[in-house]
Amino acid sequence: MSAQTGKPGRTRRRGVGDLVKGGAPIVGLTAYTAPVAGLLDPHVDFLLVGDSLGMVVYGFDSTLPVTVEMMIAHGAAVMRASSQALVVVDLPFGSYQAASEQAFRTAARIMAETGCTAVKLEGGVELAETVRFLTGRGIPVMGHVGLMPQSVNASGGFKVQGRGPQGSDRIAADAAAIAAAGAFALVIEGTMEPVARAITEAVPIPTIGIGASPACDGQILVTDDVLGLFTQFKPRFVKRYAELAPLITQAAAQYAADVRDRRFPAPEHCFGA
Ligand code: KIV
Repeated sequence: MSAQTGKPGRTRRRGVGDLVKGGAPIVGLTAYTAPVAGLLDPHVDFLLVGDSLGMVVYGFDSTLPVTVEMMIAHGAAVMRASSQALVVVDLPFGSYQAASEQAFRTAARIMAETGCTAVKLEGGVELAETVRFLTGRGIPVMGHVGLMPQSVNASGGFKVQGRGPQGSDRIAADAAAIAAAGAFALVIEGTMEPVARAITEAVPIPTIGIGASPACDGQILVTDDVLGLFTQFKPRFVKRYAELAPLITQAAAQYAADVRDRRFPAPEHCFGA
């Protein structure tokens, strides 16, 4: 009997209401592909199909070139391979900032074509009206304040946010505006620890930290960072739980040597040999 549904052998997919403030820490990881989503699904509360896929999967040097079509393809794959985690899909750069109606059309298309439960968008006070428009029309929104990778060109790079009274007041105002607009949760990225802690105490919705604070209601990391697959750089806030890159290198080298030395394929890999 499943504790989550009360029905034998079935677990219900988590909804936005399952991410509760002040309870057990909420666990999030990014997922972009079916095999990885399937492996992560039993262990997390939510999977984020983040636009970080532009950098870790496609090799762009920012998230700006990511398209709605990419988010739909990866979001649908993650949905197909998961059954328990809440799945949130990022709205990519340029697909929602122009107007609330544009944001609604993009979010509705992503939800319809992937089956995901919620979308995430980056922005503070200036995006609060858009968040209100979406949440008032049945679209659950996860906010994202602090370091906002889609704004790197305007903010001068991937820099920690919330330094000094002006910086911290701005993020606090952004967080309050997005929470008041109806977001169900808020990612705080790359922000001074005391600022993220104070925001967590101030807003009524769960905060999800990444380079923020242990006081946040939950944490998220980019899975390729956690697994040691994305090795171009390692931000201070990343903790590696595995080192897969050298394993892949070693496996590829061993395979190549076996082929070249005619050790592979062996009789057991052949039909009728
Ligand atoms: O795109 C992403 O993966 C994200 C996380 C870093 C929160 O937004």
